[in-house]
Amino acid sequence: MGVFKLFKKNNGEKKNSHYLSGKEIKAIARENAKIMRRLEKEKYRKKPESEYVTEMQDDNNILEVENLHSYFFTDQGVVKAVNGATFNIPLNSTVGVVGESGCGKSVTSMSIMRLLQGPTGQIVEGSIRFKAYDFKRDEKGDYIPVYERDENGEIVYEQKLDKKGKPVLDKAGNPVMIPKQKTDEHGLGIFEKEEKVFDIAKMPIDEMYRLRGRQMSMVFQEPMTSLNPVFTIGDQLDEVTLLHVPGATKELAKKRSIEMLNMVGIAMPERVYASFPHELSGGMRQRVMIAMALAGEPRLIIADEPTTALDVTIQAQILDLFNDLKHRINGSILLITHDLGVIAEMADYVIVMYAGRIIEQGTASEIFHNPCHPYTQGLQKSKPTMKSSTDKLFNIPGNVPNPVNMPNYCYFKERCSKCVEKCSGDYPCMVQVSPTHFVACHLYEEENPVEVKTDGEV
Ligand SMILES: Nc1ncnc2c1ncn2[C@@H]1O[C@H](COP(=O)(O)OP(=O)(O)O)[C@@H](O)[C@H]1O
Ligand code: SF4
Ligand SMILES: [Mg+2]
Repeated sequence: MGVFKLFKKNNGEKKNSHYLSGKEIKAIARENAKIMRRLEKEKYRKKPESEYVTEMQDDNNILEVENLHSYFFTDQGVVKAVNGATFNIPLNSTVGVVGESGCGKSVTSMSIMRLLQGPTGQIVEGSIRFKAYDFKRDEKGDYIPVYERDENGEIVYEQKLDKKGKPVLDKAGNPVMIPKQKTDEHGLGIFEKEEKVFDIAKMPIDEMYRLRGRQMSMVFQEPMTSLNPVFTIGDQLDEVTLLHVPGATKELAKKRSIEMLNMVGIAMPERVYASFPHELSGGMRQRVMIAMALAGEPRLIIADEPTTALDVTIQAQILDLFNDLKHRINGSILLITHDLGVIAEMADYVIVMYAGRIIEQGTASEIFHNPCHPYTQGLQKSKPTMKSSTDKLFNIPGNVPNPVNMPNYCYFKERCSKCVEKCSGDYPCMVQVSPTHFVACHLYEEENPVEVKTDGEV
């Protein structure tokens, strides 16, 4: 018996299995290629700013994600990694995203940074509104300088100097006068800035340099793979300043890099500045990554499992550092982790994801003291605590459904012990259980009101 026949036999009837014939794979690949070509073309299309500049729905947010769908077009079918996520990040807050491995946390963060690997990975629908504080530009696309003004509000003029510092003269021998640009404490020229809301999902990918590193930055799980092994820490840190601060010199970049290393609690920053990544420990490398994320003075830091690769004592130090930074930077943090303990310590708001969808969100207190979704309740129960002694931790039975063939009913149904008849029907809508608490579960829909008890049991 041929290998494929045997495979088919062992997998039962074809219609019940995930087995695909070569012909089917080809058909899927053809269909995917068409969609990917269209989406890639759109990604690189030059378009006027008016097509992707928008407004926030609530001015107190720095980021608003609405109905985000990010898919991977594979030959086995379309993986709906993020399938309709809607959430906000308020200004100056930490939002935690929690969920088991493969539920779409990283794909959500990569979508916000527009780092999904094309052509297979694509944002196919939705908006990601980000409130940026961007440089103002003139018709030619150049930054607009801020000029010094006298007490009457008139622009102050100064003599134009050449490269050697000598005054430039006009044909009549008179000194050429130019408006005097305001400078900051480092002597760098100040340019006009303005608050602008970008819809990142619609932004041409070539424009993302305006946001990445400067307005939003990312700290990844494994610092060794994010740092370049052939450059010193100093070279890599300086680059951020040289890239994002107009007119920055090498000396200024070095000064700022050392400041950043100091800020993230690195002793002897000059020595670390001159080191290569392999010379540092894991915790130090993660501190360097955080320093790098801070160097562009971003308004949003996305930390994707920032402590997962570190041992427990270093984890605690890095979390303390994030907590401290939150008060120092005038920005917000999106903290992604599968660890509820990390979320409890850090987050103001919590988003619970399951199989590419948000199934519950609320303040940290609501999610921890009054979890509504049976999955969130299961997550809570599976967490070891200091107070209770138990031989065996609670385990949520079953597995996450196949991401290529998602059912059209609640994705948690096969694992849920609280199923009601309705659960075989449509996917549940988000139900509001308090002004800040939302849950996608049929148990909370109005026709079927359920008393929510504070001990987390329904
Ligand atoms: N490059 C890829 N190609 C196909 N599927 C992918 C790819 N990257 C991620 N996925 C799928 O997307 C889903 C979400 O992944 P991810 O966001 O990385 O999960 P996590 O919540 O663990 O961060 C998973 O089912 C994963 O298999
Ligand atoms: S909708 Fe039904 S199956 Fe889904 S979590 Fe709620 S009770 Fe369980
Ligand atoms: Mg991940």
